[in-house]
Formats: sequence, C-alpha cells, structure tokens
Amino acid sequence: MSQALYRKWRPQTWQDVVGQTHVTQTLQNAIQSGRLVHAYLFAGPRGTGKTSTARLLAKAVNCTDPQPSNRPCNHCEICNAINESRFLDLIEIDAASNTSVDDIRDLRDKIRFSPSMGQYKVYIIDEVHMLSMSAFNALLKTLEEPPSHAIFVLATTEIHKIPATVLSRCQRHEFRRISINNIVEELEKIVAGENLKIDKNVLTLVARQSTGAMRDAISLLDQLASSGENVTLEYAHNILGTATNQSVIQVVDDILMMQTAKGLEHIHTALDSGIDPRQYSRQIVEYLRNVLLVKMGDPLGEDLPADIREKIETHAGQFEKEHLLFCLQRFNSTAADVRGNWQPSLSLELAFAETCISPAPKAAVSCAQPVEQPVVVTRTAAVQETESTPSHHSQPVVPADGSAKVPSIKKERQSTASAETKPGAQAIASPADQLSQSVTTEKSAGAAQDEKAVFRKLRDNWNEIKKQVRQANPQTEGLLNSCRPFAVKENVIQLATSEFVKSKVETKENLAIIEPVISRLVGEEVSVTCITLKNSPAGSKDTLQNEDGMVNAALGLGGQIIQQD
Ligand SMILES: Nc1ncnc2c1ncn2[C@@H]1O[C@H](COP(=O)(O)OP(=O)(O)O)[C@@H](O)[C@H]1O
Ligand SMILES: [Mg+2]
Ligand SMILES: [Zn+2]
Repeated sequence: MSQALYRKWRPQTWQDVVGQTHVTQTLQNAIQSGRLVHAYLFAGPRGTGKTSTARLLAKAVNCTDPQPSNRPCNHCEICNAINESRFLDLIEIDAASNTSVDDIRDLRDKIRFSPSMGQYKVYIIDEVHMLSMSAFNALLKTLEEPPSHAIFVLATTEIHKIPATVLSRCQRHEFRRISINNIVEELEKIVAGENLKIDKNVLTLVARQSTGAMRDAISLLDQLASSGENVTLEYAHNILGTATNQSVIQVVDDILMMQTAKGLEHIHTALDSGIDPRQYSRQIVEYLRNVLLVKMGDPLGEDLPADIREKIETHAGQFEKEHLLFCLQRFNSTAADVRGNWQPSLSLELAFAETCISPAPKAAVSCAQPVEQPVVVTRTAAVQETESTPSHHSQPVVPADGSAKVPSIKKERQSTASAETKPGAQAIASPADQLSQSVTTEKSAGAAQDEKAVFRKLRDNWNEIKKQVRQANPQTEGLLNSCRPFAVKENVIQLATSEFVKSKVETKENLAIIEPVISRLVGEEVSVTCITLKNSPAGSKDTLQNEDGMVNAALGLGGQIIQQD
C-alpha cells in the first residue's frame, strides 16, 4: 500500500510549515542564537503542524550543518536518520496510550543516559493532557531538573487540561488553524507534485471542509484522488457528502411561496429516501447561510457548482432579511436538536411550517390565519415594523435565470402584489386592521365563508371605495377616512370609527352614497353601519365580548384599536 499523502508531505524544513510563522520564526531564532530551553509546549488544533514542528526542532538542534541558519539541512547523517525514523535520541511518546506513572518513571530513568547519536535527546510527548495526575507529577520532577542534554516538546490540543505547574515550566507556542488560502496553496503543491487530476475549485471545497486542519485537507485530497479519475467539483461534492440536495432548494422555494403542502411533500420524499431529519435541517441551514452571505454582499466561494450559486443568488433577491434570519434560526435549532424526538421528523416539519406561515416571531396575532389566502398579507404586516421598511414584495421575486418555475412564481406573486397595490394595502399593516383580520378569521372557522370573502374585497378595495365616494361627495370621503373596515355580518358592513363620525356617516344622505359604491365593489348588496370602539367604551365592550374573543385577548395583551388616518 502506498504511503498516505499527509505522511509523505510532512514538512521537512521550517519553510514547509504553513501558516505558523509566529512559531517557526521564534524557534529558528532560538537555534541561531543558541537560546534553547528544556521544555516546549505546542498547543493548538489537531493537524496544524505540532508534531511536524517538534520533529523539525529535534532535527535542527542535532543537525551538524556548520551554519545554524541552515539547520535542519536534511543532508547530514543526523537529519537523514531522523527523516528515516532511525534516530535513537528522538523519543516520541503518545500520552493517549502511555498514561501511567510507570511510563513516565521509565522515561525519567532513561533520560539520564547521554544521547547516543546526537547532541540532544528530544522527547516529544503527544496529547500530553491525557497523562494521569501522578504521571504529571512524575513529569514535573523531570521538568524541574532536566539533564542538560534533554529537550521536551509537549504537544496538546487541550491546553486547559494541563496543570499550571507544568505550564509554568514550558515555553509555550500556540498553533493556529490554517487559512483556506494557505491550505489551497499547499494542496496545489501536492497536486502538482503527485501529478493528480483535480479541478482547482475542488481544492477550495476540500480546504473549506477541513476547517483549518492541514492534515484533514490532505487526507480528503488523498481520498478524492484515490479514484484515479479526474476529480470534478460534482464528484467531490458527492464523495464528501456536501452536494446541495435539490430537495433543499425546492423546500426553500416552498417557504418563499408559502406552499405548505408541497413543501411537506418535498420534505417527506427526502426523508423517505433515507436522509436523517437533522442532517436534512443542516443542509437547509448551510444553504440558507449562503443565501444570507449573498444578501449581505459576500461573494460566494468558488467551491459551489454554478447552478447552485445561481439559485442562491436568486433566493437572496427573494428573501426579506428578517424572514431569512428567522428561517436560519428556526432550522438551526432543529439541526441542533440532539434529544432524539420520539417523532424525529416532527421538529423539521414544525420548523418548515413556522417559517412558511409565520415570517417572524412577532407575527403572533396574525399567525392564526388560514394558509390559503391572507398569509401573504400577514407577512407584509409583520415585517412592516416601520413605514420605511419596504415590503419584500418590492424586491424582484422572479428568478433571473428564467427557470421553469417562473410562471408559477410570477402568477403567485402578481396576485399577491396586486392585492397589495390595490386600495387598502396600506391599511393592512396597521394594528387595527390586523385585529379585524383576526376577527374575520376566527369567525370563518365556524362558517360564513361568504362574509370572509366580502370582507376581503372590502379591505382590498377600500381605497377605491373612498375614491369613488369622493367623486360623489368629497365630504363623505372625508368621513370614510376616519373609518376602517371592521367586519361583515349578514350583509351588513361594519365600519369602526368614533362616536362623532358614526353620527355623520349614518345619515341617509351619506349612506345613500356609500352603500351603492361598496355594494358594487364587493359584488354584494350590503348595508353599512358604524361601530364605535375607541370613544365609546360601552359600545366597544359589547362588540368585543359578543363577537370576538381574539380581539379581547389582543386588547388584554396591550393591543389597541387605532384609527388609520
Ligand atoms: N502547518 C502545516 N504546514 C504544512 N503541512 C501541515 C501543517 N500542519 C499539518 N500539516 C500536514 O498534516 C500532517 C500532520 O500534521 P501534524 O504535524 O502531525 O499535526 P498535529 O501534530 O498538529 O496534529 C503533516 O504530515 C502535514 O502533511
Ligand atoms: Mg500530532
Ligand atoms: Zn542536518
């Protein structure tokens, strides 16, 4: 079997150690000036070069090159011996498997003998935090009075587990995670040196996957290259399990279009194919994270296939930022939900349903709305925290790529957009109107489907109604400006207003203008009556108690019915 790439490419000179110049430079200076210490502690994440650097140090302190700045020379007898693992004075101890006090005592006894080949005996104790307490104590004795020919290099990934007494006797060096660029450069070197056939953007993907550990990056490269074929980005994504699931994209589409049934179907198809719900949530999070990065102006990495990048960019244009953040948080908590649910897919389904229906947690009042229609409106209401916040519908919602989805998106969006640009759209955002929506919603649960439809038309056409009333009599329109559609009950339109306006609106002359206009625009013969909410406590109380517990509840929570204009 051939040698693993990461062993073959172990740094042989100080320059080979990538991304740790703050360590290697200090050590080189110490060698040149002869200011060596007896105990070093190398701390940092795995695969960042601790063992490699410890071996370089062992080589450099024993190298016989007359020029200290050349050490290690990799030519002298000592360097060769170390490179070929036959140097007797380099002792590597894996503390993970030699944790007992006897092992350290054994070390202590042997350390007294002079080096047999070189000038220094170098002890590398890897994963030193694994030593038992008594072993640490035994080690401490040695560190306190080391023979002049001994050098210790303790390496650890968990420095917080090292006793302070040991720390204080070591010169400490912190190894850092290696940047993606540095890893890619190193991988390019290996690809060229090994004559591997790997697309360049695959290296970025590998570097990203290895989270700063060079060893992991080289191992992944090894794994990909072992097929012997030309490694394409698609192949790499498949092997590394990082391919963006097409169903993830579909589900995100479903969230944006609030297609609950379709979305659940997509999720179930994915789960039925065997994917773990949490894993699936993670994929959604990973995808949405990219969408967020694009939305915030961050360019996408080269390691994503072109079609996925295009999709991400389209979605970035479609999402309202608040909604996107909510989705990310919601799916992230599902992905991190470690307590295996008795119903594993439930958490995912809930996350989907909530992000689909409710754009942000604040939408509490309007959440109760049925899915088929007012939801789009609800989202607008919820995200319209201030007048200046633009509705997400104002952004381009049609994919730039002109994909097959366009017609349906266009259709959906146009219908919602027209509902909003129509008269009454503005009123939707106000708390009073949210309340009145809730009123109709609650009642619709029982029956009165027609009333709901009429109310919707009334609300959507409210500005048009006022415009037409104005043509008949501007003063009447002035009165309507102080009214708000409140409810529809058995062909009676209820407008909420003050006691004063009520008395004016409900005159024969004004009703004669208002009623025909409204009837025409809602397509139903209706009469109009006013109810007073704010200026007549008794009146409002009756109305609320009799007709709508929801409004009551909202008022109880601090909600207020206010006038629009
Ligand atoms: N900083 C680095 N520069 C170049 N290669 C590195 C670096 N860190 C790790 N490697 C690669 O990873 C392999 C293992 O590194 P190692 O020094 O054993 O890491 P650690 O001891 O920190 O876990 C090396 O053989 C080398 O191929
Ligand atoms: Mg190591
Ligand atoms: Zn040498």
